[in-house]
Amino acid sequence: MDEHQHEVIARWERRWLVTGIVMLVVFVVLIAYSLITQGGHIVHGGGKMSPAEAQNVPLFATPGVREVSGGEYQVGVVARAFAFNPSNIVLPVGARTRFYLTSVDVLHGYLIEGTPVNIELIPGQLAYFDYTFARLGTFHVVCDEYCGINHQNMVGTIRVLPVAEYRQQQAAGNLPGHVAAPAASGSAAAGQAAAPVDGRQVFDANCAACHQTNGQGHPGAFPPLAGHAPSLYRADRAYPVDALLYGLQGPITVAGKDYANAMPGWAHLSDAQLAAVANYMMHAWGNDAALGAGYRPYTAKDFADARGTSMSAADVHAIRAKLGLP
Ligand code: CUA
Repeated sequence: MDEHQHEVIARWERRWLVTGIVMLVVFVVLIAYSLITQGGHIVHGGGKMSPAEAQNVPLFATPGVREVSGGEYQVGVVARAFAFNPSNIVLPVGARTRFYLTSVDVLHGYLIEGTPVNIELIPGQLAYFDYTFARLGTFHVVCDEYCGINHQNMVGTIRVLPVAEYRQQQAAGNLPGHVAAPAASGSAAAGQAAAPVDGRQVFDANCAACHQTNGQGHPGAFPPLAGHAPSLYRADRAYPVDALLYGLQGPITVAGKDYANAMPGWAHLSDAQLAAVANYMMHAWGNDAALGAGYRPYTAKDFADARGTSMSAADVHAIRAKLGLP
């Protein structure tokens, strides 16, 4: 091969290299663009949720729609061949809603037509995502993973109503798939901003679906807070603040049991609500005995100051590991 041939080959190599890089950039830009314009969001899958465990967690033992603090909603959905439970739900327009889903038999899908939501429901896994329905109407839900002979009948609906009509239907007891909220929580929190926040109400409305009202969680699925929360405070007072704001994702061990589910962040709760629920968790279920003297109660300012660092749930897990927590 002479000098000229080398030169030609090198030129073509450079061209292909440039072409490859340009294509890569175009793909990244397209993906970013579609995520932004289609209200893209990340679906969190997190660890284990065996069918037996799902039966014992309130969220899935009594699946359905729960109104939580501040006019937000939690939806628990159990998929099994060949239906979603609940299959038909109703939500008010504009309400931030956190969906938790699991399959108790085979692979299913959860596709909400007309939205970017399209989730794989893997048996033994927990999936969750946040979505706000910004427009009125009936959205069809379909299972889009072939799951057996009646797969095509595995459908549901989500009806999105104006808030006033939603409240009317609620008062008339006409909302399918709704689970009664824990006593007085939502209305009390929404009503008077000046009234002190009851940490127990915040906990029962938001956290108890997984950790249970008695703080026991469920072995293998959700860690207990009873007998555990004070050790987090003692490791680092700032750690529970980060975990509440930003969630936690990664394998942990609590009281000798392994957990791999992800906890979502709760930054959408107010600083006062977060402080109240943190203090409640530290004192409830006999935890106060393990807290020791000199406990410094959490304040709304603790949470206000920790906002804006925009940590991920995985970052919180790294902090947790650094503190030497198992
Ligand atoms: Cu379930 Cu297809």
